[in-house]
Amino acid sequence: MSDIELDHLAVASGRQTLADVPAGVNPELSIEHVSREFTAPDGSIVHALSDVSLSIYPGELVSIIGPSGCGKTTLLRLIAGLDRPQSGTLSLAGEPIEGPNPKRGYVFQQGSLFPWLTVEENIAFGLKAQGIYKEHKADVARYIEMVGLHGFEQAYPHQISGGMAQRVAIARALIDHPDVLLIDEPMGALDSFTRADLQDRLLDIWEQYHMTMILVTHDVDEAIYLGSRVVIMTPRPGRIKEIVPINLDARDRVSDEFAAYRKQLLTKLHFDAHEEHAGDAFVGDAQELLPNETPVDKED
Ligand SMILES: Nc1ncnc2c1ncn2[C@@H]1O[C@H](COP(=O)(O)OP(=O)(O)OP(=O)(O)O)[C@@H](O)[C@H]1O
Ligand SMILES: [Mg+2]
Repeated sequence: MSDIELDHLAVASGRQTLADVPAGVNPELSIEHVSREFTAPDGSIVHALSDVSLSIYPGELVSIIGPSGCGKTTLLRLIAGLDRPQSGTLSLAGEPIEGPNPKRGYVFQQGSLFPWLTVEENIAFGLKAQGIYKEHKADVARYIEMVGLHGFEQAYPHQISGGMAQRVAIARALIDHPDVLLIDEPMGALDSFTRADLQDRLLDIWEQYHMTMILVTHDVDEAIYLGSRVVIMTPRPGRIKEIVPINLDARDRVSDEFAAYRKQLLTKLHFDAHEEHAGDAFVGDAQELLPNETPVDKED
């Protein structure tokens, strides 16, 4: 997919959109014609990603959405440098991505905390591994405060809730001061109240640190609420179907504008789920609606 035309995008309040990017600014992250195949246990080839191109600009918060198996985690792993493509290139600030780097923080889809370490020790783990804990010790307390875990420093992962565990994972990634934070469905298993709280915390962090964030989600509302653009992916082969710029006056989940985006995205996702790939599981709002039903507002 080619880059989005810059000129038809308006500036949205409180959001970094492409229209905010001064002319001549290069993408921070460039993904060009990337393909990644896997061999399934039965020997067949799975085209997890096929000819995927995407440019992400400094300070953007981009949501990626699509049905299960469309290659979202594969794409994030490639950006993180945890995997390599068979063809195509990925680069960050002009440098080819050839392996993991703390500048690309990664919050995994599934619990990734060390169960034998406390909240504080989990967050400090990377600093200790790099031998820079002493000089950055104060950061640990600062990030614990930022993600709202003050008082739980000495708790172990089994003693905290799922939402708190995800906040630990986010703090652990933030402590390395990443330029880009990659987040793979951190709110997948959370109730709507905890999810809304975590979304707002992520926004606070994004605004405070002006960092670039790429968030994978199954939740249409979350994609719209957080993203300045929503990248829609489709499976078999995993491709980018479309990129929808989000231009909301305010982050208001019950506004008419928000509902219009919800309807637009659900329609595009339904088309994939029902017409092109009937039988693919889609976990999230879209699953509950038939193609011609009007989505109703829901309060998170
Ligand atoms: N290491 C692997 N070996 C074999 N197949 C793989 C491997 N990793 C991913 N795949 C396949 O690639 C496809 C894309 O997987 P991926 O995990 O990227 O999907 P996803 O969009 O993140 O799905 P979900 O929303 O369920 O997390 C799937 O068909 C998956 O089975
Ligand atoms: Mg995934």
